[in-house]
Amino acid sequence: MDPKGWRVELNDGHFIPVLGFGTATVEEVPKNKAMEITKVAIDAGFRHIDSAYFYKNEEEVGLAIRSKIEDGTVKREDIFYTSKLWLTFLRPELVQPALEKSLKDLQLDYVDLYIIHSPVALKPGEELFPQDKSGKAMYDTVDLRATWEAMEKCKDAGLTKSIGVSNFNRRQLEKILNKPGLKYKPVCNQVECHPYLNQSKLLDFCKSKDIVLVAYGALGTQRPKQWVDQSSPVLLEDPVLCAMAKKYERTPALIALRYQIQRGVVVLAKSINEKQMKENMQVFEFQLTSEDMKVLDGLNRNLRYLPVHICITIANLMLLRPSS
Ligand SMILES: NC(=O)c1ccc[n+]([C@@H]2O[C@H](COP(=O)([O-])OP(=O)(O)OC[C@H]3O[C@@H](n4cnc5c(N)ncnc54)[C@H](OP(=O)(O)O)[C@@H]3O)[C@@H](O)[C@H]2O)c1
Repeated sequence: MDPKGWRVELNDGHFIPVLGFGTATVEEVPKNKAMEITKVAIDAGFRHIDSAYFYKNEEEVGLAIRSKIEDGTVKREDIFYTSKLWLTFLRPELVQPALEKSLKDLQLDYVDLYIIHSPVALKPGEELFPQDKSGKAMYDTVDLRATWEAMEKCKDAGLTKSIGVSNFNRRQLEKILNKPGLKYKPVCNQVECHPYLNQSKLLDFCKSKDIVLVAYGALGTQRPKQWVDQSSPVLLEDPVLCAMAKKYERTPALIALRYQIQRGVVVLAKSINEKQMKENMQVFEFQLTSEDMKVLDGLNRNLRYLPVHICITIANLMLLRPSS
C-alpha cells in the first residue's frame, strides 16, 4: 500500500490503484456512452479503468483516455488500464494478436494489465459465442498453461505491464502456479466479490501467493435480467449495510467498497451516474472499525449473482432467443 492508501504493489513490482472504474454496461446502455462515462470517471478521480474485448467498448474507452491525456488532466502513466483476453483466443498463438487488436482499438501502446477473462476456452473464430448447427456452444480444448506462456510473452514484448487471470478457482490458479518453468505469476485474480459472496477462502489463498484479488460486482452487480435471478436480495438494500451506512453517515455503496479495500481487495465500481462516481471516490475518506468489518464478514451467504462462467450461460441463452 502506498502512503495515501490509493495503490497496492503487485507481485511484479507495478502498482494498481485499489479503486477501479468498471466500464461494462447492460445491453440497454449504448456502447458509445462508454466514452462519455469514462471521461467523467477520470474527471471524478478514477485512475484505474477496467474493460475487456468482450465489452465491445475499447475504442470508446481508448478515446476517452486519450482525450483526458490530451487536455492535460492525466498522463498515460497516471492511468491503470485493464483489458481481458476473450475466450475464443485462449489458444497460445491467438493471445498476442488478441491483445494487439485491443491496443489497436484503444490506440494505446500498452495496457497496464491483461487478464484471461475466464478459464473456459471457446472455439476460435469471429463469433464471441460460437455455436454448432444445433445451436450448442462450441468449446475448445486448450491447456491453460500454454495460454499463460503466451501471456508471459506479451509482457516480455512490452504490450502489457502485468498479466493476470479472472474467474479462476484455486485449482485453476494452482495449475498456473505449479507450471514447470513459470516465468511470471498472475498478479491478480478478478472475481465476483461482495458482502454476500466474500470469497474469504479464495482471498486467503491469493494472499498466501501474493496474488491480488480484484472484486467485481462489489455493489451487487447491475442485475442484468438475462443472468441474475431478479428475486435474489438486492445487496445495497441489505438492512445491516444500510444501518452501518447511517452510522458512518455514508451510503451502503460506500460501505461495500470500503469493506473490500480494508480487507486488502482491489475493488471495481461501475456507474454511469456522475454523482455516484464522485460519491464512490469518498471511499478514501473514512474507515470501518474492526468490529464492523466482522459484522460485514457475517453477511456472507455464498450468493453468487452472476454465473461463474458467463460464456456458458450466454451461449445457452442465445439458444433460447428466437432467430430473426
Ligand atoms: N471479470 C469478469 O468476468 C467481470 C464480470 C462482471 C463485471 N466485471 C467488471 O466489474 C465492473 C463492476 O461490476 P458490475 O458491472 O457487476 O457492477 P457493480 O460495480 O457491482 O455496480 C452495480 C450497480 O451499482 C450502481 N452504483 C454505483 N455506484 C453507486 C452508488 N454510489 N450508490 C448506489 N448505486 C451505485 C451502478 O448503477 P449506476 O450506473 O446507475 O450508478 C451499477 O449498475 C464491470 O463494469 C466490469 O468492468 C468483470
